[in-house]
Amino acid sequence: GSEISLVKSDKLTTCTHLPYEPFQVKKGGEVVGFDVDVVDLVAKKLDVKQEIVDTPFEGIQTGEDLNAGKCDVAAAGMTITDVRDENLDFSKPYFEATQALLTKKGKGYKTLADLKGKKLGVQQGTTGAEYAKEQGKGVETVQFEDLALLLTAVKTGQVDAGINDNGVLYDYVKGNPDTEVTAEFDTGEQYGIGVKTGNDALRKEIDAALDKAKSDGSYDRIYKKWFGK
Ligand code: ARG
Repeated sequence: GSEISLVKSDKLTTCTHLPYEPFQVKKGGEVVGFDVDVVDLVAKKLDVKQEIVDTPFEGIQTGEDLNAGKCDVAAAGMTITDVRDENLDFSKPYFEATQALLTKKGKGYKTLADLKGKKLGVQQGTTGAEYAKEQGKGVETVQFEDLALLLTAVKTGQVDAGINDNGVLYDYVKGNPDTEVTAEFDTGEQYGIGVKTGNDALRKEIDAALDKAKSDGSYDRIYKKWFGK
């Protein structure tokens, strides 16, 4: 037992938004991924099991779900930003990311300027959508509710390119050799695990679990498991 109060007393409830492979994805009826394994370290420390709730990214990134008591933590490959930090509290960073561009192979789109007058798929509520809005002058953005819809739209030619985090796009091209990642934009993002504003007790447990995982090799093991190097 710990002095941490949880939404469901015997569980660590995690809000996430599926699919975001390899961070969270349903495989054989079970949600697995890098984030799942990282949060499991926290659950283990608290001596409870993790329970995952799949919910739209909007409610996660606005802090709405955490503040409504829907979940204890939000782990969704979520970038730490100043705006989000006003509405929820973040753990220390646990992963680095940058925006990247996905196209069908051989299209030749390597910059947002190349996409002037073309369609660029973005995922709703994400830092990629924000980046496209700010930097993609004259680019027509098309919003998608989740990553899977965005990836399919690129593959089928419904959009000319898609923007999202490098980790998920590189994972996708491995299994879809008709697509390629043509650019990385240096957005210097870091993922954090969200808790309700002021839940310092839980935030400190997460930070301690991350510190321990980095020093005892479990972070590296999880990294290798999902990224293979
Ligand atoms: N890192 C990006 C952001 O924070 C995208 C996260 C999307 N995550 C997800 N599970 N769908 O905006």
